[in-house]
Amino acid sequence: MKKRRLFICQSCGHQEAKWLGQCPACKEWTTLVEEVVAKPTKSQRLAKVTTNVQSLTEIGFESGERTKIGIPELDRVLGGGLVSGALTLVGGDPGIGKSTLLLQAMGALASQGKKILYMSAEESLQQIKVRANRLEVFSENLFLLADTNLDALEIARREVSPDVIVVDSIQTVGSSAVDSSIGSVSQIRAVTQHLMDLAKGKNITTFVVGHVTKEGTIAGPKVMEHMVDTVLYFEGERTGAYRILRAHKNRFGSAQEIGVFEMHGGGLRPVSNPSEVFLSQRAQGPGAAVVTSLEGSRPILLEVQGLATSSLYGSPRRTTIGFDQQRVAMLCAVLDARAGFELSGYDIYVNVAGGVRLTEPAADLGVMLALASAVRGLEVPTDFVVVGEVGLSGEVRGVSQLPARILEAEALGFSRCIVPQVDLDRWTGAAPSLPLHGVKTVSEALEEAGLGFNS
Ligand code: TYD
Ligand code: MG
Repeated sequence: MKKRRLFICQSCGHQEAKWLGQCPACKEWTTLVEEVVAKPTKSQRLAKVTTNVQSLTEIGFESGERTKIGIPELDRVLGGGLVSGALTLVGGDPGIGKSTLLLQAMGALASQGKKILYMSAEESLQQIKVRANRLEVFSENLFLLADTNLDALEIARREVSPDVIVVDSIQTVGSSAVDSSIGSVSQIRAVTQHLMDLAKGKNITTFVVGHVTKEGTIAGPKVMEHMVDTVLYFEGERTGAYRILRAHKNRFGSAQEIGVFEMHGGGLRPVSNPSEVFLSQRAQGPGAAVVTSLEGSRPILLEVQGLATSSLYGSPRRTTIGFDQQRVAMLCAVLDARAGFELSGYDIYVNVAGGVRLTEPAADLGVMLALASAVRGLEVPTDFVVVGEVGLSGEVRGVSQLPARILEAEALGFSRCIVPQVDLDRWTGAAPSLPLHGVKTVSEALEEAGLGFNS
């Protein structure tokens, strides 16, 4: 085995022969750390390889059976339940609820008769027991192991023969086969590879916890994303009540699904009616609009809030939470150039209530109306839902699955919708019971909502 010293970026895994202040691949600063990398010779490599070349017609077809965990919002993000032998990464900020969710999920699976091996390298058995009591998880099928060494997992696995393994967390477990320190890129890769071999070779369904740090100073889940089957990230603030779990990658299902949970004294509680919850504390007065966002297979109604304050110094600021900042800058420019709003003297803030990240362009028109409403000091009528993407010439563009969005708005008691005219033109099937106002331009939408200069 040849050993080499390499500098590896702890953020993206990029390798360099010498130290650099900035990673040339991901542009992060001071993330390159020296690691010893063992490189097997070609004959060593080939000796380990077994191939399984098969003709397409010889391969049996398994229908991909799924086990429902019994936590609906988690089953949803996984694409309808657990696929056996899948390796899933659960990532997020420290303290957001990864261990809590996994312990609850394992409790639910254990009560279905599945054997679970939960390896924690961060907490003692007593600490986990206290949490389990709090979550009311009691099952003799749930085996706990507090260790940081992958070899201990291997021995425990042989003893327990589990159906499901949890490793909490990837940054605190190490393999003695690798020289680098625990938590380094080489270790993370080696441990992930080992778990992948177990998952596929022994058909053990596996969950791995990965901490994410904004600074990128510790090697993150980014380096393992491409190795695992499914990647789920918690988003939102850990200070808020709601936790959003979003699928970023899913080899067995849709990669846009989100699960919504509420953190309370007894763990994470699935929220089955997110729209209702997110709209339950709606703001009064100007500066808000309700939009629909299609999260995987489910439309969710959200409140976007806009605020405009006069800008005192230099160039005006565009600050966003839960929405792309550049997109807001663009929408401001369109309001300015196409609808006669003078925004150059304002600092602009956009916030999506509830800690959700809005990624759909279909929210554009709603963001614009919230901002126009803030600037003009006029309220968007509270029974309005706004849907539409906005282009640079101020045109309102079509969105996907308008009928599903309208149904959700109707179910929540909204009585009017501003929608793209193009979607109305191609609407097939029965007309919805609530009035739809088709618009072609931002100006038309502003007039419709009573925020235009002619209204
Ligand atoms: P945890 O699952 O330990 O986070 P992670 O594993 O992602 O680091 O969650 C920790 C937070 O959740 C902590 O601040 C306490 C809170 N919490 C509750 O509010 N209720 C509960 O029932 C539990 C177990 C935790
Ligand atoms: Mg934890």
